Amino acid sequence: MSALASIDPRDWIRDVPDFPKPGILFKDITPLLGEPKAFRAVIDRLAEQFAGRKIDAVAAAEARGFIFGAPLALALGVGFVPIRKPGKLPYQTVSLEYALEYGTDRLEMHNDAVGPGQRILLLDDVLATGGTMRACRDLVQRTGAEVVACAFVVELSFLKGREMLKPCEVSSLIIY
Ligand code: PRP
Repeated sequence: MSALASIDPRDWIRDVPDFPKPGILFKDITPLLGEPKAFRAVIDRLAEQFAGRKIDAVAAAEARGFIFGAPLALALGVGFVPIRKPGKLPYQTVSLEYALEYGTDRLEMHNDAVGPGQRILLLDDVLATGGTMRACRDLVQRTGAEVVACAFVVELSFLKGREMLKPCEVSSLIIY
C-alpha cells in the first residue's frame, strides 16, 4: 500500500461555523490545499476514478473548481477548460444564466473550448445545492459536447444537489 493510500482527506477539511452566514457550517478545504500529501491523494483518487474512460478535457468553474480541475486534467493527460464569471474571458464566449436563491448569476466559456464529439469531465470542489454544476453541465451540453460525469471532492448530501444533476453521472470523493 502506498503512503498516500492511507490518507483520509477528511482530516484536512475544517469545519467553520457561521460562514458565510449565521447557522451555516462551512467545509473549508484550505488545510487540505496546504498539505501536499493530502492534496496529491485527492487528485490521485479522482484520476484513478476516471482513468480508462474516454475524456477529452476537464472543465471547471472558478474559483475553487480551478484548484482541483487543473491538476486533475494534467493527471489524466487532457486539457483544462475554465468556466468563468461574466466578463473575464477575452475571446468569444457562450454563456448561461442560472437562478440563485435570490436573483440570477451567469457563467461563461470560450466558444471554441469544447464542441460536438467531445467528452467532458466536469469537476468542482463542493456539491451543495447543485446550481453551479447544473449551469456548467448545461453550458457544456449546449455546445454539443457530452458530459461524461459531474465529479466533486466534497458533497453535502443533505442539500440534495445530486437531484439537480439527473440524469448525469455524479461522483463525490467525500460525502457529508
Ligand atoms: C462554491 C463552490 C461551488 C459552489 C457549490 O463556489 O466552489 O462552485 O459554490 O454550490 P452550489 O452547489 O450550491 O452551486 P462559489 O460560488 O462560492 O464561488 P468560489 O468558487 O469563487 O468561491
